[in-house]
Amino acid sequence: MPHRLVTTHRTSGATADSAQSFTLVNALKLDAKAELDALAKGLLAPAASLSPKYFYDALGSTLYNAIVLTDEYYPTRTEAAIFDTFRADIAAAIGVGKQFVDLGSGDSVKAEKWFASLKPSRYVGVDISESALTDALNRLAGIPDAPELVGLVTDFSRVVDLTAVVEKRPSVFFYPGSSIGNFSPDDAVWFLKQIRAHCHDSDCGLLIGVDAKKDKARLDAAYDDALGVTAAFNLNALRNVNRLLGSDFDVADWQHRGFYNEAMGRIEMHLEAKRAVQVRVRGELRAFAAGERIHTENSYKYSPEQFEAILIEAGFQRPQLWRDEKHDFNVFYANS
Ligand code: AVJ
Repeated sequence: MPHRLVTTHRTSGATADSAQSFTLVNALKLDAKAELDALAKGLLAPAASLSPKYFYDALGSTLYNAIVLTDEYYPTRTEAAIFDTFRADIAAAIGVGKQFVDLGSGDSVKAEKWFASLKPSRYVGVDISESALTDALNRLAGIPDAPELVGLVTDFSRVVDLTAVVEKRPSVFFYPGSSIGNFSPDDAVWFLKQIRAHCHDSDCGLLIGVDAKKDKARLDAAYDDALGVTAAFNLNALRNVNRLLGSDFDVADWQHRGFYNEAMGRIEMHLEAKRAVQVRVRGELRAFAAGERIHTENSYKYSPEQFEAILIEAGFQRPQLWRDEKHDFNVFYANS
């Protein structure tokens, strides 16, 4: 049973004629218990794993914001440079006045940079974190000429149902940051098909950022930086899991592994036991041998041709590509 809660917020301190409000819909499942069951099951399985969504508690989100500032982690700043360089071109391909649907909106800072050129009539932020979404919408409500503002709290790693908030009108779906890399290629097609199913108007498209394949040394470094920020980010998942499941992982027993698996075309992140350890997970003892790993993340990398094929398979048409001079990162706009 989905738990749906609609609230209208009025920004405090706004004067009567400049007051902006926004609507927030919370569609996060009531059965958070099923999520925790899946988390425990993954940890107790012979090949242990956990979903990368468990990185992002308050400390984990802060560590991610630090990762993007490290010298080695190029994707975020490269994507920002592509957006800045080609903003007018990209905006011309999209067209003005559309509904702007921000998938994984976070602090909405990336989206806001498009407001001046795209002049969206409506902004829909979609995020798993209600607090991040509320903060972002409150901030956007204060900018002059803000579009109509709507938020949806949901976890779209399984089902993508945006029908509560997305209106049937010309739209652009925005999925930056190479977040698509967390899906396997098959699941990426499945996810993009679901996004496309929300296009009811022929004038609808997808603006997406996708990290490119490149030499292994640079990819390895981007996911195992010298300062150890990515290591802390990965290890922090154990603290989050302890909080959620009441398990007793000792962070000191584990070490970060992050490397490019060239054959699979993906970054893999794992947590590796430094020594033989026993962990209590919901009353069960899970023994890990020294060197045994918990798989925590995949981050797929695509050549432009590979990702174009995925867009086409998902039903999108006429993909246009923008990239940096070193071809480190791909930005696509494709019509529905
Ligand atoms: C947020 C999924 C785009 O895969 O590069 C960064 C997450 N993990 N460093 C990525 C991440 C380790 C990031 N995404």
